[in-house]
Amino acid sequence: MKKVLIFTYFICFWGKLHAQETIVQVKQEEIRKKVEQLLAKMTIKEKIGQMNQYNGFWNVTGPAPTDGSAVLKYEHLKSGQVGSMLNVRGVKEVRKVQKIAVEETRLGIPLIIGFDVIHGYKTVSPIPLAEAASWDLEAIKNSAEVAASEAAASGINWTFAPMVDISRDARWGRVMEGAGEDPYLGSKIGYARVKGFQGDDLSKKNTIAACAKHFAGYGFAESGRDYNTVDVGESTLQNIIFPPFKATVDAGVKTFMNSFNELNGIPATGNAFLQRKILKKEWGFNGFVVSDWGSINEMVAHGYAKDNEHASSLAANAGSDMDMESYGYVNHIEALINKGRVDIALIDDAVKRILTVKYELGLFEDPYLYCDEKLEKSVIGSPENQAAVLDMAKKSIVLLKNEKALLPLKKKGQKIAVIGSLAEDKNSPLGSWRLAADDNTAISVLEGLNTYKGNTITYAKGVTLTEGKTDFTLETKINEEDATGIEEAVALAKKNDIVILVLGENGFQSGEGRSRTTLDLPGLQQELLEAVYKVNKKVVLVLMNGRPLTINWADENVPAILETWHLGTQSGNAIAAVLYGDYNPSGKLPMTFPKSVGQIPIYYNHKNTGRPEIPAPNMVFWSHYIDESNAPLYEFGYGLSYTDFRYSDLKLNATSFKRGEEIALTFNLTNTGEYAGKEVVQLYIQDKFASITRPVKELKGFKMVSLEPGESKEVTFVINEEMLQFYSAKGIWEAEEGDFNVFIGGSSNAILKNGFKLID
Ligand code: BGC
Repeated sequence: MKKVLIFTYFICFWGKLHAQETIVQVKQEEIRKKVEQLLAKMTIKEKIGQMNQYNGFWNVTGPAPTDGSAVLKYEHLKSGQVGSMLNVRGVKEVRKVQKIAVEETRLGIPLIIGFDVIHGYKTVSPIPLAEAASWDLEAIKNSAEVAASEAAASGINWTFAPMVDISRDARWGRVMEGAGEDPYLGSKIGYARVKGFQGDDLSKKNTIAACAKHFAGYGFAESGRDYNTVDVGESTLQNIIFPPFKATVDAGVKTFMNSFNELNGIPATGNAFLQRKILKKEWGFNGFVVSDWGSINEMVAHGYAKDNEHASSLAANAGSDMDMESYGYVNHIEALINKGRVDIALIDDAVKRILTVKYELGLFEDPYLYCDEKLEKSVIGSPENQAAVLDMAKKSIVLLKNEKALLPLKKKGQKIAVIGSLAEDKNSPLGSWRLAADDNTAISVLEGLNTYKGNTITYAKGVTLTEGKTDFTLETKINEEDATGIEEAVALAKKNDIVILVLGENGFQSGEGRSRTTLDLPGLQQELLEAVYKVNKKVVLVLMNGRPLTINWADENVPAILETWHLGTQSGNAIAAVLYGDYNPSGKLPMTFPKSVGQIPIYYNHKNTGRPEIPAPNMVFWSHYIDESNAPLYEFGYGLSYTDFRYSDLKLNATSFKRGEEIALTFNLTNTGEYAGKEVVQLYIQDKFASITRPVKELKGFKMVSLEPGESKEVTFVINEEMLQFYSAKGIWEAEEGDFNVFIGGSSNAILKNGFKLID
C-alpha cells in the first residue's frame, strides 16, 4: 500500500513538474513569436532605440524639458528611440515616462526601467559583502526578494545586481558590493540572489530582472585602483572569475552588464571573447547585455577605439546589446549598418533579446503593471521588510575576538561608555550604493543599545570620522586635526565599567571610486582607540566598514572585536542584539583580512609555489617577507561564536572512487560551550598535483549546523567527481585522476584532514 502511495505521489509530482515545464515552453514560444512579429514592424531607428538607455534626464513630474541636452533626449523618448531608462523611480515618475513610451511612440513599446537595487531598496539590507558573511543562502535569497518587492512596487523592473566580481584586493572599494574572494561561495550567493530578485515568474508584481555584473575581471583591477587595467591568465579567468557568472546563467539571470576595465588588452565592453564566445555561445545565455555607464565611449580613452562611432561598432559587434549613457548606438549605429560595419542581424539579435525580457516582465500586457500606488505605499518599509533586514543584519555579523568571554554583555548593572562618531551615525550603516534610501534612516548603534534599559549608557564622540555625504562627490572629509574630543572620551572611559568603541569607515569610504592605499582605521580613530584602552582595558571594538581592515593593534590588545560592516536600516538593533547575546553570532569572513596592505593580493586559495616552507631555521630563500609573516590577520571563513565547537572523528567511507561514483565524508561537531549556537562547517579539497598547478585548498561545500550546549551531531558531505573539476591544461572542465586532500573545519585553516584518490 505504502509503495503504491509513494508511486502515485511520484507520478503526480513528476506530472506537475512536467506540466509546469510545458507551460513555460509554451509561454516562451508565444513570446518568441510575438517578438518576431514586432521586430518585423520595426524601423532601423526603432530597433536601435531599444538598444539605447538614458539616465533620468528631467524632473519627470514637472514640465517637459525646454533646454539643454534633455530636450533631445525627450525627443528621442517620444519618437521611440529609447528602450530603457535608469534612475527614474517611484510610481508617479515611472508612470509618466512609461506613458510617453506607450502612448506617444509609433509602436508603443514599453520602457524597461532599471535601477541599482544593490542591497535593499528603501528598506536597506546589509551591504552584499556583509550578507555574504552570513553564508546563509536562504536568508540572502530572501533579502533579494524583499529588495525586489520594494523596487517593483516603486515602478522598477530591473536591478543592476548582483555584482559577482571576485576580488582579492581590499583596497578596491567595490568589494563591499560583492561576495568576497571565493568562487564557490560567490557562485552559490550569486545564484541565490538571482533567484531572489527574479523569483519563479518575472511577470509577478514583486519580481524584477536581475543583472550579473561586471563581466568580467573588474575585481582584479591592478593595485586595487578602481577602473584600472586587468591582466589575468586563462586559468584565473576560468577557475576564479567566471564561475559566479556562470552560476547566475544557471539561475536564469535575464541580463548581464559588462565592465569598465580592459581585460588582457581588450576593454570588456568591446570584448567578443567574453560576450559572444563565452557568455552567449558557450553558456547559452539568451538574455541581453547592457554596457556599464558610458563604458562604450570609454573605449576611446582606453586607446581601443578612435572615436565614439568606432567604439559603438566595436561594442555592438562584440555583443553589448544596450548602450548605457554613451549616446553611441543612438547616434551612430544606423550609419554603421549603412557602411557595412555592423551587421543588421546582430542588431536584430540584440533587439530580440531586449524585447523578450520586456515580454517576460509582463510589460507588453500591462505597461503599468509595476505602477500601483497602493502597493507602493503598503510594501515599502513594511514591518515584514524591516523584520527581514533585521534578521539578515544579525546573520551578517562576525565575531572576530572574544577574550575572557567579555561578550555577551550583562543586561543589568553595568556602566557602559559608548565612544566613536559612528555610534550615533544614522547614515553610515546604510553603506554605499543605497540610492533609494532616505538619508539618516538607519537605527544607530546608540539607538539600538538604548532599547536595553538595564545598564547606564553614556556617549562621547571622541573624534569625528566624517561630515556630510553624497553618493557622487568624494566625501572622506576626515577630521585629522581635531583631537580635542579624545580627552573627553578618555575621561568617560575611566568612569565606566565597559567601553564600546564604534570605529571604522563611514558609509561612503567604500564603494565605487573609493579605493584606498591603506586599510587602517581612517583619521584619528586609532589614536582614540589606544588612548581609551590605556585607561580601560574592557574594550569592545565594534567595527563598521565596507572592506577588510588591517586592525593588527586592536587584534593584539582589545579583548573583544565584532565585525558589523554596514548593516543597513536595522543596523543598531542587530548590533545590540548580538552585543547582549540575544543573537549568537555565526558569521564567517567571506574575504581575508590582511595584516598589511603589502600582503595584497592575499587569499586562502593561493598556490603553493616551489618554495612554500622554510627549509631550515633562518633560511632566506623561500617564499616569504622579511618584515611580515605570510599569514593573514583573519583568514577566509573565520568567525567565532559565543559558544565553542569541537570538530572530531573525520572519516571517509572509502579511500578512492571511480568517475561517476562518490564517497561520503563524516565527522562529529560538538557544542562544548555554554550557549546554543550555529556553526558554518566548511569542506575544502586540495588537488595535490595536476596538469596545471592547483590551489593549496578550495572551498567545495559548507553547511550550517545548530547545536544546543553539550549537543553533538554527525555531519556528512558527499564528494563526487564534479567537485574535483577545474579548467585544466586541455582547456576543458574536467577532474583529473590522482591524489586529493580533504579538510574540514570552521574556517579555511581547517583542522581535520584526510585523503582520497580519484581513479580512472
Ligand atoms: C557602475 C554600475 C552601475 C551603473 C549604473 C556604474 O558606474 O559601475 O555597477 O550599475 O553605474 O548606476
